[in-house]
Amino acid sequence: MKSIVVLISGRGSNLAALIAACRSEAWPAKIVAVISDRDAPGLLLARAQGIETQVLPFAGFASRELYDEALAGTIESYRPELVLLAGFMRILSHRFVERFAHRLLNIHPSLLPAFAGLNAHRRALAAGVRIHGATVHFVSTVVDGGAIVAQAAVPVFADDDEQRLEERVRAAEHQLYPRVVRWFIEDRLRVQDGKVELLGEQEPMQLGLGPAT
Ligand code: GAR
Repeated sequence: MKSIVVLISGRGSNLAALIAACRSEAWPAKIVAVISDRDAPGLLLARAQGIETQVLPFAGFASRELYDEALAGTIESYRPELVLLAGFMRILSHRFVERFAHRLLNIHPSLLPAFAGLNAHRRALAAGVRIHGATVHFVSTVVDGGAIVAQAAVPVFADDDEQRLEERVRAAEHQLYPRVVRWFIEDRLRVQDGKVELLGEQEPMQLGLGPAT
């Protein structure tokens, strides 16, 4: 049984998708704790499922390094094999990232390397892209820059506004993140020269593009 700790800052819809997949697909894994930097709505969802929660606000810490040190300690107390960022809206220090190297995944609401950083949907609309999406990647010291595991693409329509586009991407995220986490749990991900290889039976590492040819 692998232990997973999930970090959130918001509503936790990706967390909900992960909890549901873990149960319905009977992963040999358990989400042992959900940690947030604020009183996030997603924490209620975790508690309702009997998952331990912790809130660690930044206020009271003198620096990012000290905060991250405390955060790392809280995470390590659960001895997780995997740490998931699921809408955790803080940039993590290099030291933190290095400590959790190879066991820290993030989901970002764009097709990286396009639209790294904040307000990805707004920027995608402003750029006039026709295809947008989400990316799950290993976290590196470059913000939104680690090795890409898998991506989900969605169309952008002429009458989209930010909210509609966000909803479409988020629905794709809920398919994408659990799939990647299951690969990790099954020890099927290898990173070589900054690229991720999927071991074993081949499955598409991109969603939303129709059948592979
Ligand atoms: C998701 O869309 C995720 O991609 C994004 O926050 C949202 C969290 O939603 N993450 C980032 O922007 C990270 N930079 P959720 O709380 O409903 O899962």
